[in-house]
Amino acid sequence: MAGFQSLPGFRDFYPEDFSRRQHLFRVWRQSARAHGFEEYDAPVLEPLELYTTKSGDEIEGQLFSFQDKGGRNVSLRPEMTPTVCRMVGARAGALKRPIKWFSIAEFYRYERAQKGRLRAFNQFNADIFGEAGPEAEIELIALLIQCLCGFGLTKDDFSVRLSDRDLWFFYLEALGFNDAQARGLLSAVDRYEKMGEDAFKACAEAPGGLAPELKDKVLSFLKIRSLPELEAVLAPCASEKISARLDDWRKVLAGLAAMGLGEFVGVDLGVVRGLAYYTGFVFEAFDRKGDLRALAGGGRYNDLIRKLGYSDLPAVGFAIGDVTTGLLLEQRGLTPVYVSAPDVYAVLGGPAERAAALGDIRQLRAAGWRVDYPFKDLAFGKQFKAAAESGAKLALIYGGDELAKGVVKIRDLTDRSEREVPRHQVLASVRTALSGP
Ligand code: HAM
Repeated sequence: MAGFQSLPGFRDFYPEDFSRRQHLFRVWRQSARAHGFEEYDAPVLEPLELYTTKSGDEIEGQLFSFQDKGGRNVSLRPEMTPTVCRMVGARAGALKRPIKWFSIAEFYRYERAQKGRLRAFNQFNADIFGEAGPEAEIELIALLIQCLCGFGLTKDDFSVRLSDRDLWFFYLEALGFNDAQARGLLSAVDRYEKMGEDAFKACAEAPGGLAPELKDKVLSFLKIRSLPELEAVLAPCASEKISARLDDWRKVLAGLAAMGLGEFVGVDLGVVRGLAYYTGFVFEAFDRKGDLRALAGGGRYNDLIRKLGYSDLPAVGFAIGDVTTGLLLEQRGLTPVYVSAPDVYAVLGGPAERAAALGDIRQLRAAGWRVDYPFKDLAFGKQFKAAAESGAKLALIYGGDELAKGVVKIRDLTDRSEREVPRHQVLASVRTALSGP
């Protein structure tokens, strides 16, 4: 094998790939700012302990962890949530609430290779701290929708599926399950879409088993796809906490409908999320037509900041990944065309003309125009060919005759028209020519 290859699941970003990634980041950043979120960043390497037990078994098994030269157990970050909780927890008293933060960063998980899953990927994370009410969910789900609509995707391309771990726990408790059994069942529900009924094998084999009629109830609960269905199933086990929770559901759905986003959101009790820290509403965004894995996922995690040793602070957030989003945009033909053209290409007669041109080139560049020129002295013909191939709109021609007359020739490479301008007016003339009619 010649040379080296990147590690499995890691990507090189050649300029065209890089510009596609920048397009994603630009749309996400714009959307977050429009929703009043502030940007932060954090270390890629964290103490291993930040993830053990708090994120859940699945992520724990995928950590890129090792011992550093000082004997510390460390890990590359697999997600942002524990880190942002640490940052917010450490300054919780001083930060103005609600705290609305976002970040765009790279994460590392030792996953098995599959479509849409890599070992190094980027996420846009957005989280709200200090708001216990469903207004925070409305704000975040609206942001998530904008983060996808910003690319030109519509309600026909993706949907956000909303579910609720609280209601799951209330329901399972009403069915007589204890907390440990309920957690086992929720992780089976999480695997159900992938594995079907086999997901419940471990629960059925656990002490106490899983009676067929209870399994049927769990299965029909996970198939709930509307609020009226949810209300109907919960009616027989009505309690104060269940009716307060259903009020929150109505608020979230009404808030999103008032924003004109109702059609993007569906009820889906089959979503419970694999991460261990979620406490209430959870949601995921999916491609409506294809077989892509989740585009985004998130939910409430009101206990995590306290579990990390800080004060109690309600929190909710989500992350979108760049891999599945990129695939979806490609499938829908929404990937921007890659353009790497200068604004201006300078054609240079010889060493004296080159010397004269360099000062103008620097000035044009300082003014923000993208200017290219040949590094070596070449025949005019070759330079004009290079100018045309570069995709530049204008060629600036510095020939011996022009230099003697104190002018520069500006050629419009689209319509081939030419005119001469005095040397000292090059910057102004280029600005006029490139600013359009
Ligand atoms: P997550 O569901 O693990 O949640 O990841 C969110 C998104 O990141 C996924 O929907 C997917 O698009 C992308 N993603 C995850 N793993 C990979 C991978 N191996 N390769 C490519 N893309 C991947 C979280 O990470 C939570 N921390 C989100 C959150 C923020 N919850 C609250 N705040």
